[in-house]
Amino acid sequence: MEILRSIVIVIHLIGFATLFGAWIVEATSGRREITKLMHWGLAIALVAGLALAAPWGVDGDMNYAKIGTKLVVVIAVGALLGIGGGRQKRTGSVPAAIFWLTGILTLLNASIAVLW
Ligand code: HEM
Repeated sequence: MEILRSIVIVIHLIGFATLFGAWIVEATSGRREITKLMHWGLAIALVAGLALAAPWGVDGDMNYAKIGTKLVVVIAVGALLGIGGGRQKRTGSVPAAIFWLTGILTLLNASIAVLW
């Protein structure tokens, strides 16, 4: 059970790496677009995160305040990707605030995971 949980954590981290990595590529290339990879990364991190939110393969108590906060932040990132992606289709570009907030909130969630 513990090994299975560890595998799901790795999948969760792959989701984070995909979302944040795709965002870093856009930020540093100057394109600043919302890409398909970002959506995939978010979906992977969300599904694996929800699986990890259930108390299997752990001995101690779960920190549900932390998990709930991460869920709220992830929903905000999803909304930004949706709104930003829609704007991009219509106008050809993503508002700067939406693009930068996407990366900042993703990093915030990783920081909450590690520091809280
Ligand atoms: C973009 C979104 C997310 C990012 C960047 C992220 C990042 C991370 C990172 C870096 C870890 C490893 C921390 C460590 O082992 O010390 C982690 C663990 C975890 N995440 Fe997330 N996460 C995200 C979304 C979520 C969501 C939506 C949930 C649940 C609703 C969630 C639930 C968890 C849980 C329960 C763990 C702990 C696993 C364990 O140690 O048993 N995460 N997350």
